[in-house]
Amino acid sequence: MNLLIMGPPGAGKGTQAEVLVKELSITHISTGDMFRAAIKEGTEMGKKAKEYMDKGALVPDEVVIGMVKDRLSQPDCQKGFLLDGFPRTVEQAAALDATLQDMGIKLDSVINIEVPLDKLMARLTGRRVCKACGASYHVLFNPPQAEGKCNSCPGELYQRTDDNEESVGTRLNAYIEKTQPLIDYYAAKGILKSIDGDQEINKVLADIMAAVK
Ligand code: AP5
Ligand code: ZN
Repeated sequence: MNLLIMGPPGAGKGTQAEVLVKELSITHISTGDMFRAAIKEGTEMGKKAKEYMDKGALVPDEVVIGMVKDRLSQPDCQKGFLLDGFPRTVEQAAALDATLQDMGIKLDSVINIEVPLDKLMARLTGRRVCKACGASYHVLFNPPQAEGKCNSCPGELYQRTDDNEESVGTRLNAYIEKTQPLIDYYAAKGILKSIDGDQEINKVLADIMAAVK
């Protein structure tokens, strides 16, 4: 099964993706996670991406598109994949269509997680992420069992450098301007599944599973 999960920053894409890929035995492709890994490794691409990410701006299309094309050609994507955080612009969506066509495959569903925009700031400024496995928690809405520690691995939790009010504001604007138009793009293809993301995390998961089956 080839899926795409979209929604504004803080909608719960990463939270849901972590469980969905296990349930469906498919590969998780998160462009945000790939950039954060490149920053950690200190690669040239990581250095370039960091300048944009810290501000909350989108990394240029040509950088992202090349990276995703490479990733999709790797063997672990043949069992199916979940794209998370890509595409984010109409140009990226067109490039994805062309790549999938070349590969002779298509997207089965596009999951669009809907959350009122005024709820996203609190979700993002209260988020804590595991340094080791990337799992997302929230100080109020989804606290870890032990403060500062991941539930599923020995990793410590940290706050992302772009989860401050200023960067979140820029990310929300980038979403509204550049990414929101993709909802119509995928609705026109007849594969859009809209999910109410303003519910308990497990209820959102159940709705997604029912929609993609
Ligand atoms: P990326 O890492 O993709 O960030 P994002 O889209 O801003 O999404 P987030 O990871 O912030 O949110 P999420 O929806 O995954 O929320 P989560 O599940 O953690 O991208 C970061 C940056 O990289 C971009 O700004 C850009 O610079 C660059 N980039 C990446 N891809 C790019 C591309 N294609 N093109 C150009 N640039 C790109 O949940 C958030 C919080 O809410 C957590 O604390 C969680 O515990 C909590 N929560 C989750 N679900 C619920 C719920 N149902 N109820 C209550 N709380 C909940
Ligand atoms: Zn962890």
